[in-house]
Amino acid sequence: MGVENQIEINGVTHAYQTDDGPLPVLEDLNIMVPLNSFVSVVGPSGCGKSTLTRLIAGLMMPDEGEVRLHGEVIKAPKSTVGMAFQNPVLLEWRSILQNVLLPLEIVPNKMSAKEKTARAMTLLSLVGLEGFEDKRPSELSGGMRQRASLCRALVHRPEVLILDEPFGALDAFTREDLWQIMHALRKEEAFTTLMITHDLRESVFLADQVIVLSGRPATAQHILNVNLGHERTLEDLYTVESVNMLAELRHQIQIAQGRSSATEAAA
Ligand SMILES: Nc1ncnc2c1ncn2[C@@H]1O[C@H](COP(=O)(O)OP(=O)(O)O)[C@@H](O)[C@H]1O
Ligand SMILES: [Mg+2]
Repeated sequence: MGVENQIEINGVTHAYQTDDGPLPVLEDLNIMVPLNSFVSVVGPSGCGKSTLTRLIAGLMMPDEGEVRLHGEVIKAPKSTVGMAFQNPVLLEWRSILQNVLLPLEIVPNKMSAKEKTARAMTLLSLVGLEGFEDKRPSELSGGMRQRASLCRALVHRPEVLILDEPFGALDAFTREDLWQIMHALRKEEAFTTLMITHDLRESVFLADQVIVLSGRPATAQHILNVNLGHERTLEDLYTVESVNMLAELRHQIQIAQGRSSATEAAA
C-alpha cells in the first residue's frame, strides 16, 4: 500500500446558484493530504479556497466528486475535524479556559471534568497561554486570542485541522510567533492539516506541500513539495532553496491571476 491519505478531494466540481445563474467555483479539483502531513493551499482571492474548507468540514456537499476523510465519504460535519479561522470568534462571557473546553462539551467523550481541564491546560501551556486561562477574550491580544482558538480547535484531538487564513489579521511579527507555535503543536500532537493562506512565506514555512489553485473555477494548478525537514527556523526562509521556492510560488500565483503573459510582455 502507498501513502495513506487522511484527506482526499476526488474530482470535486462545485457551483453556487446565484441570481445571475450558476457561479462555477471549483472544477475537477483533486487534492491528497497524507496522514499527519501539513498542506497549504494558496490561490487568487475569490477562487474558491473557503468553499473548499466548507466541503471538507461537511458543511456543504459538492455538485460532483467526493471528499473523503480517512477513506470515508463526508456527507455531514464530523467531530474528527477541528477548524480555526481568521476571526477567532471566542465567546466573551466565557473565560479562555472555558472557550477552549467548548468542543469537549459538544463532542461526546468519556473524559471527566478534571481530565478535560487537564487536556485544555496542556494545550494552553504549549501555546504559551498558561496563566491567562481565567482571562476573558477581550483581555488578550489578537495573537493570544488566535492561540486560544488553535487550542479550542485541537482540544478534542481531531484527526484533521482546517485553517482558513488563521493568521491573516495579525501583524508580521505576531504571525511569525504563531508559525513557531504551529510547529510546536505539530511536534506534540498528531493531526493532518489543510491550511488556506495568502502568505507565501507562511505556506513554505509551515507546509510539507503547497498547492496553488488556479483562478475560478479553481483546479490544482501547481504542487510544490517543501523539502525543508521538520525542524525549521525563520532563517530557513532566507536560504537560496527557500527563495527559489517562493519565486516559483509567486510565478504560479501570477499565472493563476491570469497576469503572467502581461508581465512577460512588459519585461
Ligand atoms: N454562499 C455563496 N453563494 C454564492 N456565491 C458564493 C457563496 N460563497 C462564496 N461565493 C462566491 O464564490 C466564490 C469563491 O468564494 P470563496 O470560496 O469564499 O473564495 P476564497 O476563499 O478563495 O476567497 C467567490 O466569487 C464568492 O463571491
Ligand atoms: Mg476565503
